Amino acid sequence: MVQQNGTGEQSSDPDYFQTNPKPPNLDRQITLARSFIEQHASENRRVALVTSGGTTVPLENQTVRFIDNFSAGTRGATSAEYFLEAGYAVIFLHRQFSLLPYSRHYSHSTNCFLDFMTHNDVGAVVVESEYQQQMAQVLSHYRKAKDDNTLLLLPFTTVNEYLWLLRGLAMQMQPLGANGLFYLAAAVSDFFVPAERMVEHKIQSSEDFQEELTNGNGARAPAAHMDGKRLIIDLDPVPKFLKLLVDGWAPRSMIVSFKLETDPSLLAKKARYALEKYSHHLVIGNLLNTRKWEVLFVSADGGERWIRVPAGRRSKSVTNWDHDSQPQEPAIEIESWIVPEVAKEHTKMIEKAASKQ
Ligand code: PMT
Repeated sequence: MVQQNGTGEQSSDPDYFQTNPKPPNLDRQITLARSFIEQHASENRRVALVTSGGTTVPLENQTVRFIDNFSAGTRGATSAEYFLEAGYAVIFLHRQFSLLPYSRHYSHSTNCFLDFMTHNDVGAVVVESEYQQQMAQVLSHYRKAKDDNTLLLLPFTTVNEYLWLLRGLAMQMQPLGANGLFYLAAAVSDFFVPAERMVEHKIQSSEDFQEELTNGNGARAPAAHMDGKRLIIDLDPVPKFLKLLVDGWAPRSMIVSFKLETDPSLLAKKARYALEKYSHHLVIGNLLNTRKWEVLFVSADGGERWIRVPAGRRSKSVTNWDHDSQPQEPAIEIESWIVPEVAKEHTKMIEKAASKQ
């Protein structure tokens, strides 16, 4: 959802950062990113900013209640590993406590790390023999990323934190020029409560204890309030930041956005629409229910093609005993095909930029 102006045109809101507060730890996160980027720029390494997981929309300043979305961060965390494998340094801008590169193999409900462990003959805790090889591999990739300082983890929770960070990081990445890549896999809220419409305290479910509504003197009505026994939530659109990113914050980098839909008949149309509207390089379309086995690449040169995990390789057994309720995991991670394709396009873009110099 985007902001509409009087003519029905969609616009990005340059006032957003004047009217919504800067997160308290933003400067510290940007400082970390600056030295990370400087190191990799000096080594002429490509840097990918991978965004991952869902943003929240708090309903109260002292937040008890918030709106969230489904994203676990699988796409982002998995892609980050393949970018590292392809030689990129990765800034992993992720929802706090969502899946992380490498540890994702042993976390959350489908891959609880305890399911990989056992006691040996003398009672020590060890990795089950059948998982030794795979875990050794993950561990060595993880250690390499740490030793080479090629993975920077930066967390966000709210959509406001995400937007401030995205802008701040984009500015820091400008000196990378075409070596910078934005891979926007986070599920970003389309609606939010702007600071000026946020109530301070927990919304009371009883009218008798409700905070005074402060919509006098031109101030806008609070976004969430009780009306009798009903909770009324009236959200503002989040301005679309893709346009600002493409035109202003990261004009020389490659920008890849994702398009999520649930209606198959809309996916290609909406992906193409996004590409034409924001004039970036690539939109990767995916459907909620099939996102682990198929994605649609829609690129600026007019190309449109599906990448699909073959039908025979769409499921593998999972390790824990509670997997009946979980969606099946594909035997091939589709990100192992997505990322090399993106990197190939990035190479072309870098070569084109170099030929113009
Ligand atoms: O984490 P998983 O469970 O693995 O799921 C992965 C995923 C489905 C979340 C991922 O593959 C994906 O599709 N991410 C994009 C989801 C999304 O926000 O789609 P959208 O159609 O609402 O937005 C399209 C693009 O506009 C996104 O690149 C987003 O960064 C951008 N956007 C969105 C909102 C906003 N206010 N401003 C934006 O610029």
